[in-house]
Amino acid sequence: PTPRHLLSIADLTPAEFATLVRNASSHKQAIKSGAIPQSLIGSLSGKTVAMMFNKRSTRTRVSTEAATVQMGGHPMFLGKDDIQLGVNESVYDTSVVISSMVSCIVARVAKHSDVVDLAKDSSVPVINALCDSYHPLQIIADFITIYETFTPKAHNVSSLGLEGLKIAWVGDANNVLFDLAIGATKMGVDMAVATPKGYEIPTDMLKVIQKAGEGVPAPGKLTQTNVPEEAVKDADILVTDTWVSMGQEEESKKRMKAFEGFQITADLATRGGAKDHWKFMHCLPRHPEEVSDEVFYSERSLVFPEAENRLWAAISALEGFVVKKGKIVE
Ligand code: CP
Ligand code: NVA
Repeated sequence: PTPRHLLSIADLTPAEFATLVRNASSHKQAIKSGAIPQSLIGSLSGKTVAMMFNKRSTRTRVSTEAATVQMGGHPMFLGKDDIQLGVNESVYDTSVVISSMVSCIVARVAKHSDVVDLAKDSSVPVINALCDSYHPLQIIADFITIYETFTPKAHNVSSLGLEGLKIAWVGDANNVLFDLAIGATKMGVDMAVATPKGYEIPTDMLKVIQKAGEGVPAPGKLTQTNVPEEAVKDADILVTDTWVSMGQEEESKKRMKAFEGFQITADLATRGGAKDHWKFMHCLPRHPEEVSDEVFYSERSLVFPEAENRLWAAISALEGFVVKKGKIVE
C-alpha cells in the first residue's frame, strides 16, 4: 500500500487537522503531568526516522529528534553534507534506498517539487519539515498555541471551536503564511495579510488557499492589503516571520528596504485598532526588524509556548502518520 504523506496542511481534512491539534494538546497535558499515554509508549520502538535536512534548523530538528526518542524510536539526522543526495545521487535513488530501511522520512528541502518527488517514490511516510511553499509541522504547533490560548467555543470533530478569531499577518508572504492560511481557512479563522507591494501571495497560492475551504461549512476569510494598520484592525493575533527566508539571502538588502514600516510594534497594534487582548506569534528564528523587543518579550507574546508546541506537534504527526499509518483518529 502507498503510504500517506504530510506535505502541507492542505493534505488534511478539517477533522484530521483538528484531531492532530487536539491529540497534541492532550498528549502534552498527560505527559507533563507524568501520565504518558499507553498508546505512545514504545510506539516507535525499533523504528528509525530519517531526517534529511538540507537547510539549517533548531526547532524542527530538536522537536523531531526529541519526539522520536520519547516514542521509543531512533532519529537519524542526515545533513546536506552527510549523504550523496544532490552531489552524487538523484532524489529518486535516495528516496527508494532510504525508505527501504526506515519507517519515516522527515525532510527539509528547498523546492516544494523536491519534497513531492521524494514522497512519490518513498515506501514510507514523508513529512515535510519546511520547503519554499509549506511548513505543516509549524502550523500544527501554531494551532495548538491558539487552541490553548483562546477559549474554544462549542465544537464538533471537524472544528477547534476557534471560528470568528482574526489573525493579522504583517510581513512577507512566505511558506509559513501559506500553510497558516490553509489551516485558518479550514478552521474558520479569518486572516488579513499586509505585505509591501510586490510581495503579496502569488495567484497560484491564493487558489490553493481558497481550495482549502471547499466543503468547509464556514471557511475562514482571507483578505490582502499593503497597509499594516488595515490588517491589524480588530485582530486577535498579530503574526509575522522573517523578511528574508532561507535561500533568499542575496535579496536581503532589497527586502530590508521594501519592508520598512512593516515592523510589528505595540504602537502599530494601537494605531491599527487590534483587539484589547491581542497576542503575538512568530515561528522563529526572529530578527529585531520584523518585531520590536517590546512586543517580542512582552506578556502578549506566545513565541516560546509556540516553539515548545513544536515538540507536541511532532509527537502528534509521528503518531498519526507513522504509528497509525495515516489514519488520523483520536
Ligand atoms: N520554526 C522553525 O521551523 O524553526 P527552525 O528553522 O529552527 O527549525
Ligand atoms: N520563512 C522562514 C521560516 C523559518 C522557520 C524560512 O523559510 O526561512
